[in-house]
Amino acid sequence: MRKEITIPYEEYADEQALSAVDAALLEQARRCVDNAYAPYSEFKVGAAVRLTDGTVVCGSNQENVAFPSGLCAERVAVFAAGANYPGVPIAALAVTARAADGHPVDWPISPCGACRQSLIEYEQRYGHKIRVILQGSTGKVVVFDGIDRLLPFQFEAEGIGADAPHSQVGADVSVGSDQHVGSDGTVGSEGKKRN
Ligand code: THU
Repeated sequence: MRKEITIPYEEYADEQALSAVDAALLEQARRCVDNAYAPYSEFKVGAAVRLTDGTVVCGSNQENVAFPSGLCAERVAVFAAGANYPGVPIAALAVTARAADGHPVDWPISPCGACRQSLIEYEQRYGHKIRVILQGSTGKVVVFDGIDRLLPFQFEAEGIGADAPHSQVGADVSVGSDQHVGSDGTVGSEGKKRN
């Protein structure tokens, strides 16, 4: 049987069209870019995470001469949030970038696959959707109402027999899900949750 997945998202010509709260997080992400350490790629990325209590946590890409040892801005931000504010769900993530040579990056910066996998576990673990706001240094902005939109058919802890955070957040993306998402982003879950 053939099935299809629809991925809803919002697209705006620039940041002017964003709500004040989304625009503010994107602005924070722009400030995070300043602390990127990217001498090898010369591509600086900033990620700002807003927690449900309003705390904003900053991340930027941190590279290493042994290339795989570095880390993307998004994971730096969410891991810092997890390490410093345990138990506080993540409400939103904004990502932006700047080329080290000053070249404008005029396309939305989208989290890599490894970051998506890391991010979705925070979404599932806290049972709270993470709003994702993506832009380059200028131009088009795209917004997703959850990481699950960016990672359908994600690898799940059930696959390794672990006591998993409940998955299948977001009925439009997952196939046959009976999950309900509240207007505040909370996920009605009959599954197990990890703290
Ligand atoms: N990078 C990020 O930090 N986030 C992304 O979403 C894409 C890529 C970083 C990794 C590396 O330091 C540089 O950008 C070039 O790939």
